[in-house]
Amino acid sequence: MTSEPAPSLRLLHLSDVHFGRVNPALIAPMLRAVEGLAPDLVVISGDLTQRARPAQFAAARGFLDRLPVPWMAVPGNHDIPLDRPFRRFFRPFGAYRRAIGADLAPVVDLPGLSVLGLNTATPRHWQAGRIAPARFLALLARVRAAKARNQIVAVVAHHPFSQPPGTDKQLMTGAATALEALAAAGADLVLSGHLHHWAIAPLAAPEGGARLLQVQAGTALSTRERGEPNDFALIEISRGRAARLAIARHAAGPGGDFGAIARQVYVRQGDHWVLQEAPARAPGAVPQSGKMPGEVSAPSSNFDR
Ligand SMILES: [Fe+2]
Ligand SMILES: [Fe+2]
Repeated sequence: MTSEPAPSLRLLHLSDVHFGRVNPALIAPMLRAVEGLAPDLVVISGDLTQRARPAQFAAARGFLDRLPVPWMAVPGNHDIPLDRPFRRFFRPFGAYRRAIGADLAPVVDLPGLSVLGLNTATPRHWQAGRIAPARFLALLARVRAAKARNQIVAVVAHHPFSQPPGTDKQLMTGAATALEALAAAGADLVLSGHLHHWAIAPLAAPEGGARLLQVQAGTALSTRERGEPNDFALIEISRGRAARLAIARHAAGPGGDFGAIARQVYVRQGDHWVLQEAPARAPGAVPQSGKMPGEVSAPSSNFDR
């Protein structure tokens, strides 16, 4: 008797594209990468622009319109006009809503997967972001409903819920409590950005394994790389006897084309995600500081940077 192959889905996670500070040489390679990988959905975790100018949003929307697959986005702090006080405090998302979409927390349901947006950008706490209680309670209700339908749940938010040690940016207020609540509700993945540093963090399980994985993508297209290559994440989700997540980092090489440089596979065991495969260097990998950016090597830290 032959078993049916497990249905699988592909999410392509971009972050911090920052139109206004984009490297234009990366746009065509990025579009080629998306076309070649053929994800079911592209997820953009905020900072679509550099300074939230209408022209920058128009350029961002022009890029999104060229994607050959469906996409969803949430705003980042740079999508609120920091240096325009009236707009910042009274119409913080006016230009975003007109160009990108009226819904700041979109939801996309795919077979076996629910992708839930959360807006963490706010005019007052511009840099650190904030989790508004009412928004978060609504999100938790959606997480629980999706788990009741036996879906894998990915939450998309610009600001990470946990940061690597030594990060020079302030963590969102209440992030640790919110992370615990998300894990308790059964969320599987958090897709975030903001730091312009790649990291996969197994979280919310001090005894080993992870109840929840945070994938923090770097900057996909901007010149604000902070010493790292431009990158994005490809997340393949399959539902066989056990759920499985394969998370690959694709980075821009010297010629501009994006290619996989690191990959991790997690398998669901009970209420935990367990790392199945040690990260391996992909063909054509770009070495960085003698350490592949997919390795989990620091036992004192949950972060893979
Ligand atoms: Fe950013
Ligand atoms: Fe940001």
